[in-house]
Amino acid sequence: MSFKEEQRKRAEEIEEILRNYLPKQEGQQKLIMEAMEYSLMAGGKRLRPMLMMETYRLFGGQETVIEPFMAAQEMIHTYSLVHDDLPAMDNDDYRRGRKTTHIVYGEDMGILAGDALLNYAFETAASAFDMERGDARLIGRAMQILSKKAGIYGMIGGQVVDVASAGKVISGDTLKFIYELKTGALIESAMMIGAVLAGSDEDQTETIERIAGKVGMAFQIQDDILDVTGTAEVLGKPVHSDEKNEKTTYVTWKGLEAAEAEVARLSEEAVEELRKLNPADTFLEELLLSLIHRKK
Ligand code: IPE
Ligand code: IPE
Ligand code: MG
Ligand code: MG
Ligand code: MG
Repeated sequence: MSFKEEQRKRAEEIEEILRNYLPKQEGQQKLIMEAMEYSLMAGGKRLRPMLMMETYRLFGGQETVIEPFMAAQEMIHTYSLVHDDLPAMDNDDYRRGRKTTHIVYGEDMGILAGDALLNYAFETAASAFDMERGDARLIGRAMQILSKKAGIYGMIGGQVVDVASAGKVISGDTLKFIYELKTGALIESAMMIGAVLAGSDEDQTETIERIAGKVGMAFQIQDDILDVTGTAEVLGKPVHSDEKNEKTTYVTWKGLEAAEAEVARLSEEAVEELRKLNPADTFLEELLLSLIHRKK
């Protein structure tokens, strides 16, 4: 099977897991369950659950305890997108090839759908405690990582500084801080949880955090590049959103060529470090390298 076919197959498996963990659409609050499904099942790349699963496998994990965490991670990521697109934030009308949640369901329900996905992510992750072959200590540690990396020391922390910096000149250090948190943190979370649930020791978990940090930084720089060079049709979201919002990005800071070189450098470094952990895992390697030239 080619890498592309393998990637499609794994993304389909993730879709199935996500679908299984969505709440049943019933009760007087049915509207919010519809809005949750609308944003979650719109067909993103599923990179974070994929990285989680691959890192779990890398450390020898074989149980289904990883599945609620894969679903939870994608719910948190999706909520971050729903809120990121709100009029008070980036004010974007398209996401994952569809009208954004707040355009379809209204701003009030957009806010609530994000809140609902965030909270339901933790309900979903905590359901791992009910699984027969789950190790409660490892599940607890994974939940700690999930909450910290999504919060003020993670994604939210980065979004706060990103939004507060719009229209301002910021330093390279501040830009790095924003990227490490707003995008790096959820990718770190995904890979660390994969490692932890498979029983990695502290040193190994730290190594994975460092590798994931590089992947996250490269991923956000490429996102900035695509905001300038991509098309809305391929990306499934508007282009020139950063310019519209007067954001300093790696591209406005260093230029397009330097940005492309940095994506390649960080990704190759991440792959090199990964190889030291497990030279046999070619899918994960190919996945990370494929991100260098991604078009969406
Ligand atoms: C978009 O993430 C937001 C960033 C952190 C750059 P993705 O590019 O992974 O979005 P989906 O999940 O594929 O829609
Ligand atoms: C967003 O960065 C990162 C999040 C935490 C959602 P962007 O604002 O650049 O992401 P896109 O381009 O809207 O996907
Ligand atoms: Mg944003
Ligand atoms: Mg945005
Ligand atoms: Mg962007």
